[in-house]
Formats: sequence, C-alpha cells, structure tokens
Amino acid sequence: MAIIMDGNGRWARRRMMPRVAGHARGVESVRAVIRACIDHGVEYLTLFAFSSENWRRPADEVSFLMQLFLKSLQKELDKLHENGIRFHVIGDLSRFDESLVRLIREAEERTAGNQRLTLTIAANYGGRWDIMQAMERMLAAAPEQRSGFGEDALSAHLALAYAPEPDLFIRTGGEQRISNFLLWQLAYTELYFTDTLWPDFDEAALAEAIASYQHRERRFGRTSEQLKGGAEDVSGNA
Ligand code: IPE
Ligand code: IPE
Ligand code: MG
Repeated sequence: MAIIMDGNGRWARRRMMPRVAGHARGVESVRAVIRACIDHGVEYLTLFAFSSENWRRPADEVSFLMQLFLKSLQKELDKLHENGIRFHVIGDLSRFDESLVRLIREAEERTAGNQRLTLTIAANYGGRWDIMQAMERMLAAAPEQRSGFGEDALSAHLALAYAPEPDLFIRTGGEQRISNFLLWQLAYTELYFTDTLWPDFDEAALAEAIASYQHRERRFGRTSEQLKGGAEDVSGNA
C-alpha cells in the first residue's frame, strides 16, 4: 500500500490554525494507519512525507516538517520496533541534517530484522529522481548494460526494490494526481482518491479504501472473460 498524505494545511486552515498544526495532527493519522495496516495484514506500507518539490514551501514550514520528522522518529522508534515494524526511508537524504540522517540509519539498522510490516517513509523523494538514480546505479554496477537491458535490471536499483509494487494507492485531500510519487511502481496499482483530509483519515477510512480495492478487477491487460476462465486464451500465453 502506498499513500500520499495530503490535506494537512487545509485541515488546519479550516480551524483557523497555522498550517503546521495540521502536520502535527497528521502524525496521529500515521499512527492509526500503521495500526490498521497491521490489523488488515498489509505487509508493506509506503508513506509520502516530503516530496522533492516541497522544498519550494516557505522555509519555516520546511524546517517545521524536518523537526517533526526527527522528533516523531525519536519518540516512536521503540514502539515501532516492539511492534515488529521494519523501518525504511527512501529519497535523496543528501539535503537533510546530519543528525536526522544518522537517526534514520540507526532506525533502519535496528529494525532490519523485523517482519510484521515494512514501513517506508518517502522523504525528499521524487519518482523521476528514483528512475534516474536507478539508471546511474545500474550503469555503475554493470557498465556493459548501457544497452539492451531489461526492466528487471533497472527496477532492481529503484529505491523501493525490496518491496513488491503497490496493490493499492491512496491519496487523501481531494487532489487527483500522483505528484511525482512512485512513477515506475504505480504502473498497475489500483488508485483510490478521497476528499478526506489526512488528519481526519483513520482506521475506518482505511477500511473503506481497502473495501473499494476488493471490488476492483485487476486485469493486467487481459479481458474480464479470461480472468473468469470463460473464454479461450487466444494469445496462448499464461
Ligand atoms: C500534506 O499536506 C503534507 C505535506 C506535503 C508535507 P499539505 O501541507 O500539502 O496540505 P494542503 O494540501 O496544503 O492542505
Ligand atoms: C504531495 O503533496 C507530497 C506529499 C504529500 C508529501 P503536495 O500537497 O505537496 O502535492 P501538490 O504539490 O499539491 O501536488
Ligand atoms: Mg497538499
């Protein structure tokens, strides 16, 4: 499951509060969604926390978000670990404070053996950045792959290579766009958009999204009849 957690600013504005109050409240939704994912047996959850484009926001909002990330991780790490959560961050961390990067790396190492849920936070992440860095790393590892390489050779170097491609994508906050999130990985993901603002998104809202997903028919290019086994497979392929 992959989620764009959007609508924090509007949630706060509607209450005559500063935008950052919405970000602070959004941490509660992160907790609720992690709990709910464990209850539903979700094994991989990837949350978009900060996009490569979010640096364009006012400097005080950016620094609030960085502090919130640092403090939340410090506060929650023990609980994440106790609950069997493997923690990962994907994105370009080169612009982050050293103290935050150190804490992230420590958290990743400490939780590396956990198996219940793999929680990935996408921070200073961009889907195009991901494809570019995968290309660079692939060529560095095997320069002879300059041409004729397959999709698997490239995708093995994507930031989220340790996780399966998402089955379900959720975006809160009413906007219906991908905003440079997992461009490669979302190729065949089921998309779910809700007007609910992220701070209002809770266990019940997640259950609704999952219920919607369960009514989808994932055809991957085939026909509905093929999936139901009613018609002959004219292509001869499995
Ligand atoms: C999403 O909420 C959180 C981040 C992008 C960090 P927004 O801050 O984008 O909230 P809106 O879209 O302005 O309401
Ligand atoms: C996308 O939200 C990024 C995150 C939720 C971290 P934005 O609110 O920044 O997206 P746009 O720019 O409105 O598309
Ligand atoms: Mg937004």
